[in-house]
Amino acid sequence: MSEPSSVPPTRRGFLGAITVLLGGAIAALAAVPVLGSILSPLRPAPRTGNDVPIPVGNVSDFTVGVPRRVELVRSVTDAWSRSEATTVGAAWLTRKADGTFTALSTICPHLGCGVNMDKQRGHFACPCHTSAFAMDGARLEGPAPRGMDPLTVEVRGQAVLVHYRRFKQGISEREEV
Ligand code: FES
Repeated sequence: MSEPSSVPPTRRGFLGAITVLLGGAIAALAAVPVLGSILSPLRPAPRTGNDVPIPVGNVSDFTVGVPRRVELVRSVTDAWSRSEATTVGAAWLTRKADGTFTALSTICPHLGCGVNMDKQRGHFACPCHTSAFAMDGARLEGPAPRGMDPLTVEVRGQAVLVHYRRFKQGISEREEV
């Protein structure tokens, strides 16, 4: 024979309902990531911004023949969040006399240090292991297995935009990551 409960029936019913509700809410929260992973192939791929050219200034901001380092800033979106104005990289841009531009990623193809401009020597230089690169990005010396990685530049009216890409380091072939 069970002992009489000290909790009145109405209060016990209320507590039971709360327990069921809380349990349901916890189960629903736990199911969100699982459902997301199951349904993710059905969703369009998250837009990371990789395919969106990044504005870096106007044509008049660049002097013909003088490389200028620009930060590449854009919003970044992944499956869970969106970050505004994130610096994703940098590039050395050079305006040519014919109005076109060349751009080189600042990421050293050896181990990823930032490549600087050595104005005295008139070439690009990596401070980490002394790789050097010609103004067109060709490898001159040092352990870098290839030249600097070129990026595509687009000129729309007066606006200069860079299509940013990242490449694997430490290999002679240029492979995008
Ligand atoms: S990271 Fe540039 S030379 Fe090693």
